[in-house]
Formats: sequence, C-alpha cells, structure tokens
Amino acid sequence: MKLPHIKISPSLLSCDFGRLAEEIAAAVEAGADMIHCDVMDGHFVPNITFGPPVLASLRRYCEVPLDVHLMIERPENYIQAFAEAGADIINIQVEATQHPHRLLTRIRELGCKAGITLNPGTPEESIEYLTDLVDMVLVMTVNPGFGGQAFIPEMVRKIKNIRVMIGDRDLEVDGGIDETTASEVIDAGANVLVAGSYIFNHHSYFDAIRNLKQMAEARESKSN
Ligand code: DX5
Ligand code: ZN
Repeated sequence: MKLPHIKISPSLLSCDFGRLAEEIAAAVEAGADMIHCDVMDGHFVPNITFGPPVLASLRRYCEVPLDVHLMIERPENYIQAFAEAGADIINIQVEATQHPHRLLTRIRELGCKAGITLNPGTPEESIEYLTDLVDMVLVMTVNPGFGGQAFIPEMVRKIKNIRVMIGDRDLEVDGGIDETTASEVIDAGANVLVAGSYIFNHHSYFDAIRNLKQMAEARESKSN
C-alpha cells in the first residue's frame, strides 16, 4: 500500500507560552506541516491548557492547518466553538463521549476534518465502526496530559493494526516521538508525527524537523 506523505505536527505544549505566535512562526519556518494544539480541561487529563479564545488568536498568526487535540470531557459541548475559532482538524478522544459516531459526523458538518483518538489502554476494535467517518486516527503513545514522557513500545502493534484498518487515511502518533521512535512508528504505518519536547527543546527547530523527516525519507527509499 502506498502510504500518505509524512507530516510533522509540532505540539505547542512544550513551546514558550509567552511567545505563542513567534513559536508558531518559527516552527512553520522550520518545516512544520501543521501545528498540534493540546486542549486540556483538568478533568479528562490532569492538566489545563487553553481553549477557543486562544485558538482564535493563534489562527491569525498561523498559515498551516491547526491540528486540535481535545483532551476534554463532553467534547460535544465545545466543538462548535473550536470550529468557529479556526480549527482545521478536530480530534476527539473516543473515551470522552458517549456518542463518538454522532460527534464525528457533526465535526464534518462544521467544515472541519474529523479525527478520533485512542488512549494507550483503549483497544483498536473500539474505533473500527467509526473509520468511514474519520479523516485521521490519532494513537496516543503516552498517557495524555504532559509533554516529555517516554514512548510506550507496545503501541507499535496497535499502529500496525490501525494502518490495516484505515487504508490510506492519516494515522497520527502523539507522545515520546524523537528521531529513534519516529523510525519505529513510521515503519509501523504512522504518517503524521506529533512532537513537542523533541522539537521545542532542540537548539534548532529546523534540525529537529529535518531529523524526523529524514527518518521518513529513509523508510520511503527502503520501500521503493
Ligand atoms: C500529551 C499531548 C502531546 C504532548 C506530546 O498529552 O497530547 O501532544 O505534547 O509531547 P512530547 O512530544 O514531549 O511527548
Ligand atoms: Zn496531543
């Protein structure tokens, strides 16, 4: 199967929140294909970040798609606000709502791409019936809530299974991605790499993104 191109989605969680617009510009200049926005409510995950008003401000300073990852309970109450704030992709956690099928349909009706996310403990079978409704599946490779955690190696098998399940749709991975784990997840079938601490703690965002993309190129030349 020809896989979709590799894209890099830097997670703002590890950037300097006092300089969000500048950090976005620097990441885009360094080669980011989209910007990953981690929304946390202090309930679904034990951390709090930002909501629709901040996203709406960021939208004005960002030329690439905003990849919004909602780690919030009752996402149905907020997706319209995130769509109006300028989200391009809205990822909901399958564990966070009673009605993921209805919600994914609604996200598309609002004009956004729809993504479904699974925590490490959630089996891939739980999203099988949703695959026709999604543009992206996001596999959490750490327990969500914080940047800088270690990649959970057991997620590689899940990535492989989901790649078979979703054909050429986007398969995003999030948590503990660096140049070593990037090559493992790409081999397993991931094509959108979220990276927070690896990029924003690197002395050169350009080098960090180039390193991740080189892993992808190596995989592509191996498979040709
Ligand atoms: C974790 C967030 C991630 C996080 C990844 O809850 O969803 O997007 O920022 O951070 P790193 O790349 O540092 O593991
Ligand atoms: Zn995330």
